[in-house]
Amino acid sequence: MSRQGKVSVIGSGFYGSTTAQRIAEYDIVEEVVLTDILEGKPEGLALDMNQSRPIEGFETRVTGATTHADGTGYEAIAGSQVVVITAGLPRKPGMSRMDLLEVNAGIVGGIAEHIAVHAPEAVIIVVSNPLDEMTALAQLRSKFPHQRVMGQAGMLDTARFTHFVAETLKVPVSSVRTLTLGSHGDTMVPVPSRCTVDGEPLARLLPAEKIEELVVRTRNGGAEIVGLLKTGSAYYAPSAAAARMARAVIEDSGAVMPVCAWVTGEYGISDVYLGVEAKLGRAGVESVIETELTDAETAALHEAAEAVRSKQADVAHM
Ligand code: 2OP
Repeated sequence: MSRQGKVSVIGSGFYGSTTAQRIAEYDIVEEVVLTDILEGKPEGLALDMNQSRPIEGFETRVTGATTHADGTGYEAIAGSQVVVITAGLPRKPGMSRMDLLEVNAGIVGGIAEHIAVHAPEAVIIVVSNPLDEMTALAQLRSKFPHQRVMGQAGMLDTARFTHFVAETLKVPVSSVRTLTLGSHGDTMVPVPSRCTVDGEPLARLLPAEKIEELVVRTRNGGAEIVGLLKTGSAYYAPSAAAARMARAVIEDSGAVMPVCAWVTGEYGISDVYLGVEAKLGRAGVESVIETELTDAETAALHEAAEAVRSKQADVAHM
């Protein structure tokens, strides 16, 4: 099996470390670099993951690197094809993702500048919250082309919607297709008109009130887990989504998935980072794919775009 390239994951919390582990276990790249500002944490996690290689049967090496505010330590990410930014604070119960805006802007903005210096050819995948705004900020501060900066949210929100539909109808998750667009926040747009179970439209299988209940639960999917955990936020499903996006870039697969991408006229919306379906490859977002929506879904997507646009304008000054 040929392994090629390198993926770096910035931030060794649960989200970052599980993302690194998943990518390493795919066994498709030569090296995964895991970084953190906590001295020794990324090195320790990397050593532990490397020791799982004989058991899990993968050869990808994991390297841990402590980084510092002045940028030292970032040499470790040199040559990365993909850099996943997971650093930042997670929510506490009762907080909205937007409550993290200022503190995480300080963290993500600095990281994006270090990535631009040390991995100037990389595709950046942002997962830090508030997601749409942090993605915009990473693009502004890295100065990378929009195509090479995207955010992870749609895959996660869609997976949550799929899980809820499968549990409700007691069918395998593999039978269910769902879609969420818009923001990774209050203006998330789950798209029931695009949801099917074994090809059959969801609207024929569940009453409208039940679908609306699942839509609301999907929109609050992250908060539901934060409320249960009490400290920290979700990471198993989020890291699965981020790792799949990184894989699509590394393998240049052309896979189409919902991501936070820069839109240039799709759905009549321009110049904002927004949750849409996109084709991913080595260049990052190769194209944004428009899908047919109902009038209500299109209106909700426009509403999401305007909400995100105003907050993204704020981060430009942070
Ligand atoms: C979530 O929705 C972490 O934002 C992420 O769980």
